[in-house]
Amino acid sequence: MKQPLTITKLKKMKQSGEPISVLTAYDYPSAKLAEEAGIDVILVGDSLGNVVLGYDTTIPVTLDDMVYHTRATARGAANTFIVADLPFMTYHLGKETTLRNAARLLQEGGAHAVKMEGGIDIADEVAACVRAGIPVMGHIGLTPQSVHQLGGYKVQGKLEREAQQLIEDAKALEAAGAFSIVLELVTEPLAEAISSALSIPTIGIGAGRGCDGQVLVYHDILQYASPYREKRFVKTYADIGTTIRDAISSYVSDVKSREFPQQAHAFPMEQELLRQLYGSGKSEAAAGQSPQHDARPAVESPKGGGVS
Ligand code: KIV
Repeated sequence: MKQPLTITKLKKMKQSGEPISVLTAYDYPSAKLAEEAGIDVILVGDSLGNVVLGYDTTIPVTLDDMVYHTRATARGAANTFIVADLPFMTYHLGKETTLRNAARLLQEGGAHAVKMEGGIDIADEVAACVRAGIPVMGHIGLTPQSVHQLGGYKVQGKLEREAQQLIEDAKALEAAGAFSIVLELVTEPLAEAISSALSIPTIGIGAGRGCDGQVLVYHDILQYASPYREKRFVKTYADIGTTIRDAISSYVSDVKSREFPQQAHAFPMEQELLRQLYGSGKSEAAAGQSPQHDARPAVESPKGGGVS
């Protein structure tokens, strides 16, 4: 049986040049399908705030939300390495709070590691987790929890000063013991430079081809009612949104036209038992022997005094 990857194996994948595939998942079915498809790492991202809970940003996502979704994800992918996001403000209030919150994602959620947004500013928190035995994935570039501070969802590191800061952030995270770093929405050359400056793997999203791995959001690659469909860095691999919508619309129309359910979907009853319950005069339909739409008007409730 497949075993979850380890942080050692992930670092070896970088050394051997094997790209690391990462996909977000948020519940049992998405995790199960991702694992069956052979994904290396599942990220229970706080992007669930956008794609599952319908918020405009990830800021309203709580630690309880993350624990709940991580637990469901872990049940669906017991043999896959799972990283869970520490949400907004759960790792900025001191090391003790950070450790307590990170521990919940592992102990209650079943994650193998946590992810935190930020660079040099959170290096102490990263180091504290690592010392406590909690693997940490860093996340720099566009950090959605700071969207208001960044002034929107924009490509990062375009200016020399910004690029320099991102390189320093990446190095600080590596020095603090992070086992990997997500680079989100940074220019391709900068992502490439950061990736070659580090010995830990970089996982890109909107960061081009030079990263050691790639991550995308489940709902984006499947066009599953995702609000990000038009983003340039997303490649869509299926349109399950349309498939689901069409299927539900067929169901609605079948119910309205009484095409569903058919006899095959209904449960028959012994004629004799039916007779005992309702007396004589039962119809074939009441015994489940004729098409359901014929049967429906013929059966009255037991309280109604029998079968017509
Ligand atoms: O929350 C998330 O899904 C993420 C990825 C987009 C990297 O942080």
